[in-house]
Amino acid sequence: MSGSPHPTPSQTASPHPTSSQTPSATKATATGLLAAIADVGSDRRRGGFSRHGYDHAELDLRAWFVEQARRRDLDVRTDRNGNIWAWWGRPGPDAVITGSHLDSVPGGGAFDGPLGVVSALAAVDELRAKGFTPRRPLALVVFAEEEGGRFGVACLGSRLLAGTIDPAKAAALRDPDGVSLGEAMTAAGLDPAGLGRDDEALSRIGCFVELHVEQGRGLIDQAAPVGVASSILAHGRWRFSFTGEGNHAGATPIADRRDPMLSAAGLVLAARRIAAEVEGARATVGRLVPNPGGTNVIASSVDLWLDARAEDDARTRTVVDRIREAATEAAEAEGCAVRITEESYGDTVVFDSTLRDDLSAALGGVPALPTGAGHDAGVLAARVPTAMLFVRNPTGVSHAPAEHAEPEDCEAGVQALTTVLEKLA
Ligand code: GLV
Ligand code: MN
Ligand code: MN
Repeated sequence: MSGSPHPTPSQTASPHPTSSQTPSATKATATGLLAAIADVGSDRRRGGFSRHGYDHAELDLRAWFVEQARRRDLDVRTDRNGNIWAWWGRPGPDAVITGSHLDSVPGGGAFDGPLGVVSALAAVDELRAKGFTPRRPLALVVFAEEEGGRFGVACLGSRLLAGTIDPAKAAALRDPDGVSLGEAMTAAGLDPAGLGRDDEALSRIGCFVELHVEQGRGLIDQAAPVGVASSILAHGRWRFSFTGEGNHAGATPIADRRDPMLSAAGLVLAARRIAAEVEGARATVGRLVPNPGGTNVIASSVDLWLDARAEDDARTRTVVDRIREAATEAAEAEGCAVRITEESYGDTVVFDSTLRDDLSAALGGVPALPTGAGHDAGVLAARVPTAMLFVRNPTGVSHAPAEHAEPEDCEAGVQALTTVLEKLA
């Protein structure tokens, strides 16, 4: 697909009758649907995929999803926060919702996000083929900018929906080219004036189930193709801006320098050391931007972003406080200044235990496992009963091109989601 979808016949489902009474023989597979979008946003420079909120690739994927939903006679609506909902029948209260996101990290894998979306489409086909008619309203959802790969804050669509981020602050977030979220939404034909907590949309959600590729080795170790989520680590993002003195790389003696890159390097090393000292904690610097960024130029400033996670709020705060201290010391040692900003934070999520156990039992007792990755399901868990299904990832790698799920495990995921939707709806 490039600009418009070109799925092969085996990947498509023919339009279904609105009544949904008539079983259909044509069913899409998750793998087939993923193949149909495999050339959207593929990143030749980094490898993998770069699909960010409201960029060309993500808009193409949104259009593709809308077309797929309409082929299935789903009623497609985009909410005030840019999340796309595709309703089987009329939107209503106490609805069963499933879906995920279509955006990626820079150079990400093919499965993180899209697997949950294509599995939802394939599960609708399975349910239709069985002649299933939902008794509760049922909808698929695609959340906007889950990774924060463009505007910096993860789970923007679900945070806005749930009211856990200030809409004015969100609209003003800027991408590396200076384009704001508000401007990007306007360019995509959406009105950023509508951003913010959406009680009407929230009140329709009876429960949310997000299927996702597993992002670690839990299911490999348990030799299980599918599992359910138990919890998500507390996690957040902090921006450190070090300021020094820009100068000449050859003409400035070492003793005369105030090089913010040295302070930044001090933080990177301290982050690893400190996280290793707190059980289960993780701290990562994956993005560092020197200004002006010349080989023969001592930077005048360096911005870097810390991603820190741990089992609970106290441990995460301890790690970040100690890294803050180390950053301040590293700045002082080099005659630099540092400004630290918390850009986002979410406390530990423990998924609804009744829903988790019910789903595990309905799937024959599949394992429950924790994850260190953030999800829209984690944001919504504070508002509605929420669960996640994980599909085994044989590499254990995620947020990188090596992320993978075998076709038979994707199929097991679709069958599991179908079973779960049948039970819930
Ligand atoms: C998103 O996948 C995150 O964990 O940051
Ligand atoms: Mn991700
Ligand atoms: Mn994801």
